[in-house]
Amino acid sequence: MNFPQSKSAFLQVLSGEVRETPPVWFMRQAGRYLPEYRDVRAKAGSFLDLCFSPDLASEVTLQPIRRFDFDAAILFADILLIPMALGQHLSFVEGEGPRLDPPVGPADIDRFRERDISQILAPVYETVRKTRAALAPDKALIGFAGAPWTVGVYMLAGGPSRDPVALRAIAYENPAFIDALIEILVDKTVEYLVAQVAAGADALQIFDTWAGGLPEDLLRRFSLEPMTEIARRVKAICPGTPVMVFPRGVGAMVAEYAASDVYDAVSIDASTSWDWARKTLSPHAVVQGGLDPLLTVAGGETMEKAARALISTFEGTPYIFNLGHGLTPQTPPENVARLVEIAREGRR
Ligand code: CP3
Repeated sequence: MNFPQSKSAFLQVLSGEVRETPPVWFMRQAGRYLPEYRDVRAKAGSFLDLCFSPDLASEVTLQPIRRFDFDAAILFADILLIPMALGQHLSFVEGEGPRLDPPVGPADIDRFRERDISQILAPVYETVRKTRAALAPDKALIGFAGAPWTVGVYMLAGGPSRDPVALRAIAYENPAFIDALIEILVDKTVEYLVAQVAAGADALQIFDTWAGGLPEDLLRRFSLEPMTEIARRVKAICPGTPVMVFPRGVGAMVAEYAASDVYDAVSIDASTSWDWARKTLSPHAVVQGGLDPLLTVAGGETMEKAARALISTFEGTPYIFNLGHGLTPQTPPENVARLVEIAREGRR
């Protein structure tokens, strides 16, 4: 039977179906490693101008789909647009990374709580709308946000050091301040993600890039529980929306994220044991990711063997092929094309 619109392979697997070959998308699949991205970015002026120009942001969201035929597109935006909308000054220092000034302090809490972020972030929702309209029905569109802990690390660090240790120290000295900051970020992130779904996002990912290194009680309090709260509230407003989480660097604690009934998929970083993840995580959640992004810089046999081994580890389970962190600007695009081919080797 022919269906006019086939549900995307990505969404099928995210709902727990097992397919012969895994769907594939990569974190940071849009970015400086692509010459066509560099052209559009130059036209936009700066990275932030690009994020706030719906036509151009939609174009760079679609570029990797056109070039590699990925199963899912990820909205082109950034996790730091929320602190920017809250009133911090966001800049990207060449070679240093993002910077938010001035660092947030307890005196900012009430102002941030009252702040309306919807106007500033409206162009992001417009990007989602345009991208969903331009995407083929069998391709999914992923919306995203940063986890409160990771966004908080940048908000408190001020400078480019983005030092999770600094935030941990403050968490012990003034836990009420961190709790209040996280509560605000939970509220604003729910609003941001719900608006992305309303504009057409098919699934959501929450990135907790700096979750690693937290003792387990703090990890539950500042990472797992706030993300769970976000996912629950988004799903209460937008029933059926799949939510994926990426608690990077948390080691065996990733099992607690997988055991939660609120997440649809858990992304694993490059240091997670594949066999362990298959045995411990796959029975509870869809697993996504795991391939060391540095392999995409090296390419060749080493990359291909690793990719095949990773994919075969998760055979027979609902698994989404992805990296253990984002693609780097040094990745030759042909290595990405090769990985997509490898993921689809069985599908002929
Ligand atoms: O393709 C995609 O993945 C979609 C877009 C996306 C970007 N950032 C675009 C971007 C996504 C999902 C993010 C998430 C993000 N942003 C995270 C979580 C994921 C991760 O990588 O851990 C974090 C920690 C950020 C904060 C941030 N923004 C960093 C660390 C950087 C890199 C700074 C640099 O100079 O490399 C950015 C900027 C950024 N965000 C770029 C892109 C494509 C590079 C911008 C450019 O110079 O063109």
